[in-house]
Parts: sequence; structure tokens; C-alpha cells
Amino acid sequence: MTSLQLYNAIFRRKSIRKYDMAPLPGDILLKLKEYANCAKPLDESIRYEFAFLGSADVKNLLPIKAPHYICLYSEKKDNYLMNSGFLLQQIDLYLSHSNLASCWLGMAKPAKGIPMLMNGLEFVIMLAFGNTTEPIHRNNTSEFKRKNLSEISSVVGGDELLEPVRLAPSASNTQSWFFSGDLDVITVSRKKLNLLKAQVYGKMNQIDIGIALFHLWLSLDHQGKAVNFDFDKDTAPTGYDFMVKVKISKNNG
Ligand SMILES: Cc1cc2nc3c(=O)[nH]c(=O)nc-3n(C[C@H](O)[C@H](O)[C@H](O)COP(=O)(O)O)c2cc1C
Repeated sequence: MTSLQLYNAIFRRKSIRKYDMAPLPGDILLKLKEYANCAKPLDESIRYEFAFLGSADVKNLLPIKAPHYICLYSEKKDNYLMNSGFLLQQIDLYLSHSNLASCWLGMAKPAKGIPMLMNGLEFVIMLAFGNTTEPIHRNNTSEFKRKNLSEISSVVGGDELLEPVRLAPSASNTQSWFFSGDLDVITVSRKKLNLLKAQVYGKMNQIDIGIALFHLWLSLDHQGKAVNFDFDKDTAPTGYDFMVKVKISKNNG
């Protein structure tokens, strides 16, 4: 699958919560596994693995039942939550482009008997996927419930670049991201949470930032630009925590 196909999927994808429980054909699962094996990490120093589970292998606090789940297990180190979002969003877009339904599941865990730890890697999050009888795609971007660009960005001239990022999915649609700086270096920050909200969304919102970063990577790639992610701590706008600086160079050849 090409970056352009993933990029185009951004403008149509949506979460699907009702699945046809018939398992997908083996060749479709094999292709997905091959694609997952080639996923691009945000931070190459973090070890991770994907694992595929069936409907009986998952404990979900919300009543979303699917024939398949893809789980991300990761080494627990700096940026691992952003890295997890970045990696699994590639699968979300791949599934949408492949006319398959999917939904991020922050509340689901592997069922009893399925390990939370695998080869020293910890379970982070999963996506449900499969076939559905519901429409898989949105018809246009007006069907997305999202903040306006002016609420999430102060980057002058960055609207075209950031529109695909604005459309990124996030836990409970919190969209806690903010983009500042300029078209050479964009600072990505995350809204500070009070103690109560931090308990619920503290981890999820870091995964969300990783999702947004993959959309930003695709958007920059679409504009023929190359990207370097700099995680060295820096300042963020008031009310936000610094997450990463995205250094952009003019041409990726
Ligand atoms: C990290 C993360 C966790 C999520 N967890 C759940 C969940 O547990 N249950 C659910 O129904 N949807 C979940 N979602 C889906 C969001 O509610 C959904 O992406 C958001 O409302 C935007 O809608 P859209 O994906 O249809 O564009 C999650 C999304 C993300 C990114």
C-alpha cells in the first residue's frame, strides 16, 4: 500500500463499532500481517510487536465485539505511547483503505490467559477490525466532528498541511493536540489535564499525539517534504505540555 493511499484514507475513515462476526479470509489476514511487519516507527529505538487476537481473546468493558483484534505490545520507555499511536494508526488507515472496518479500543484488554507481557514487551492498546454491514467511509470531511484549525494551531500558512492532522481520531474525540511554530519547525503539544482527567486520558492522549503525528508525516510526505522528529524537551504554549518538535526540510527528493 502506498503513502498516497493511506493519505487519501484520512479524509474518509471512521470508527466502526458493529461487526460481522465471520472471520476474515486467511489471505486478507496474511496481507495485513505482512503490512504490519513493514510499519514505520516514530522512534526506532523502541522495541515493539503486533499480536493478532480473535473474538474470545479480548475483554472489552464496552460492548464492541469484533472477529479480530490487533494489539500493540511495546517496550516501556520514553515516547512509547506516541510510538504506539504512530504505528497502529498505519493499520487503521490500511484497514480503511482495504474496505475493512476498524475501531481503536482504549478500554479493551487481552482476556484472562492471554499475556499482558510478551518477550519483555507490555500490552499497550488494540484495534478491533473485520467486516461490517455499515458504510465504512465518510463521504466528505464535513461528516467529521472535529475542532476548527484555529483552535488547534497557530502555525501561519499551515492550514493545508494540518487539515489531515485535524481529522485524526483520538480517545473520546478529545483532540488534545496543539501545533505552534512555523512551517520549518512545528512544535506539537498536548493539553494539560487536571488530576481526575489525567487518570482517564493521561496515557490515551499520548497515543493520540502519535496518531496525529502519523497523519502529519503523511501530509508532509504528500507535500514532498522530509521530517525529523526531535524529542528533546522544549517550551510549549501555556496550558500545554511539550511533546515533540517536527523539523521539516524542503524536499525528500
Ligand atoms: C486511543 C484511542 C482510544 C479509543 N478508545 C475507544 C473505545 O474504547 N471505545 C470506542 O468505542 N471508541 C474508542 N475510540 C474511538 C474514538 O472515540 C473515535 O476515534 C473518535 O470519537 C473520533 O471518531 P472517528 O474515529 O469516527 O473519526 C478510541 C480512539 C482512540 C484514538
